[in-house]
Amino acid sequence: MHRPVLYQEIIHALRPRQGGHYVDATLGAGGHAQGILRASQPDGSLLGLDVDPEALAIARQRLAPFGERAILVRASYTTMVEQLQALSWEQVDGVVLDLGVSSMQLESTERGFSFKYDAPLDMRFDPENPESAAYLVNTLPEAELADLISRYGEEHKARRVAHAIVQARPIGTTRQLSQVVASVTSGGRPGIDPATRTFQALRIAVNRELEALEQVLPQAISVLAPQGRLAVISFHSLEDRIVKQFIRQEIRDCLCPPKQPICTCGHKASLVEITRTPIRPEEAEVKENPRSRSARLRIAEKRA
Ligand SMILES: C[S@@+](CC[C@H](N)C(=O)[O-])C[C@H]1O[C@@H](n2cnc3c(N)ncnc32)[C@H](O)[C@@H]1O
Repeated sequence: MHRPVLYQEIIHALRPRQGGHYVDATLGAGGHAQGILRASQPDGSLLGLDVDPEALAIARQRLAPFGERAILVRASYTTMVEQLQALSWEQVDGVVLDLGVSSMQLESTERGFSFKYDAPLDMRFDPENPESAAYLVNTLPEAELADLISRYGEEHKARRVAHAIVQARPIGTTRQLSQVVASVTSGGRPGIDPATRTFQALRIAVNRELEALEQVLPQAISVLAPQGRLAVISFHSLEDRIVKQFIRQEIRDCLCPPKQPICTCGHKASLVEITRTPIRPEEAEVKENPRSRSARLRIAEKRA
């Protein structure tokens, strides 16, 4: 099975120990979870969360040898606090967030995450989410679609793309969408499919990925024990910016404007930054798994 991105670095960062409690908030195929459970032998425990039932089924099989040490729940990581309360785990020693889409999801020929395969335009991590990519593409007003593609895809030709989409409606498949996008975005960077940015934008919007990330970060801090660690892997600059700004805010004691003589906000630092600059995969990893090229790992520690 494919080794998860920045695997060694995550395990090293979390320093799993006997009897420790960990959360893998983006379980996927369970690669990071397996590493944490192995490194916290014989009695460390892990709560694994994912909204994708297919991912959970694979992780369940992979983690079965760990028995009750691995508790796997189909739930959004935005409910982390609630999930831990249900287990009566007051604090945990580490939280991992490996954001975005998994290789498994991307390589699925049916789930519509990739323009490489012709499939229904779906892109939902959670199949119970009522809004698929097809729903957004076929119902959003042109201006909203343009805004979404520009903001989440950082696509300079977003207006043109949105206009072409609206003209071509209804669009039901990944191939149809990539052809429409290609018709107005030719001449981009060599080797990069012109539909890349639009697909990324739709996936982020369908799964409300940035909102979910903003919700989970404060929850992760609130559940960490002193000196517990948070490790976050992001795959694009929008995610990384949110993680970086959050950590930079949480390592400061006061968030008042710089010229204000007395602190009125009362904010207290909750984190220590472990990685000033994010850890990136080594060349060998990128060679083996080209998707890891854009990965960035940030680590922070709960203050003692
Ligand atoms: C990059 S993959 C994780 C891969 C995993 N680390 C491994 O070792 O196989 C990200 C996973 O997060 C899941 N996910 C996305 N949004 C989620 C959310 N809000 N709550 C829980 N899981 C989510 C996706 O379904 C996907 O399986």
